Amino acid sequence: MKVLGIETSCDETGIAIYDSEEGVIAQALYSQIELHAEYGGVVPELASRDHIRKTALLVRQVMNEAQLEATDIDGVAFTQGPGLVGALLVGATLGRSLAFSWGCKAIGVHHMEGHLLAPMLEDNRPEFPFVALLVSGGHTLLVDVKALGEYEILGESIDDAAGEAFDKTAKIMGLGYPGGPQLAALAEKGSAGRFRFPRPMTDRPGLDFSFSGLKTFAANTLRDNDDDEQTLADIAYAFQEAVVDTLLIKCRRALKETGHKRLVIAGGVSANKLLREELGKYMTKIGGEVFYPRPAYCTDNGAMIAYAGFCRLQAGAEDGMGIQARPRWPISELEPV
Ligand code: KG4
Ligand code: ZN
Repeated sequence: MKVLGIETSCDETGIAIYDSEEGVIAQALYSQIELHAEYGGVVPELASRDHIRKTALLVRQVMNEAQLEATDIDGVAFTQGPGLVGALLVGATLGRSLAFSWGCKAIGVHHMEGHLLAPMLEDNRPEFPFVALLVSGGHTLLVDVKALGEYEILGESIDDAAGEAFDKTAKIMGLGYPGGPQLAALAEKGSAGRFRFPRPMTDRPGLDFSFSGLKTFAANTLRDNDDDEQTLADIAYAFQEAVVDTLLIKCRRALKETGHKRLVIAGGVSANKLLREELGKYMTKIGGEVFYPRPAYCTDNGAMIAYAGFCRLQAGAEDGMGIQARPRWPISELEPV
């Protein structure tokens, strides 16, 4: 089965073709970062308009690269939500229309299920069940993944998502957008022990997160110190250390609670080197295993949408003729397949 995947939920146009025999056979990614950088964050209307400019072109590019005709495609998968409504509508409209004109199946995909299944595109694939830590710009979720589509939310952020905390703190520190990767790079030059940030909500039971206090802590630390390069690096170090430590503490609890020995980390922040190292060390210590996608499949991409769509189509799911975007769509509302 060959599935075309279309991702347009935020500021990346991601297109890919997943072939159940050969894996991902072609892909293209266009990032709108430059477009939004001068505003310090994503401007939804600009995002939608840029997706309109790019999506159809990239679909054609990917089809040419894979040397496929419309008749070779068995299904079109597009991100249906959650995300920016205008941006989602571009992908959903084009995806549903292509499937209609090509005479193949269409399937709307949950963006976070795409992230969650992305490690399955690697050679070392996790088996169900497992605990998933989904950390992106919009979500921080700890999920008990029992089977495809059977997701129990164990914990989530009550305010800022982990990626959002990275981005907002980076902005306070005068770094560019998106700040996550830049803050992480700056932290590598920082030294341990000079500052200590809190580990929010770890002093009480439960698996929810709260990251908004960390940016305030960073702002206060910045105010009370010189803003020389080393100080900035030391603040970045302490911030990253606190986020990673907090995520590790909650993952430990979730693994104990569920009894699972497999941990999946996915979403943009799962590209973070320290997070991978720390979770890897812990899983080795308890005789478990950690799984994550390659960096290009951590952040938004078309391959994860093509793959998630393939999994659902293969299980018999299929969307009707309506075109629908679901900007707010809890992952727990997904149906098992
Ligand atoms: O999954 P994603 O591409 O988009 C959403 O669905 O939100 O995640 C983007 C987020 C941004 O907040 C970005 O700053 C963060 O992931 N990010 C990182 C790193 N790479 C991307 N955060 C920390 N360290 C990184 N290396
Ligand atoms: Zn994402």
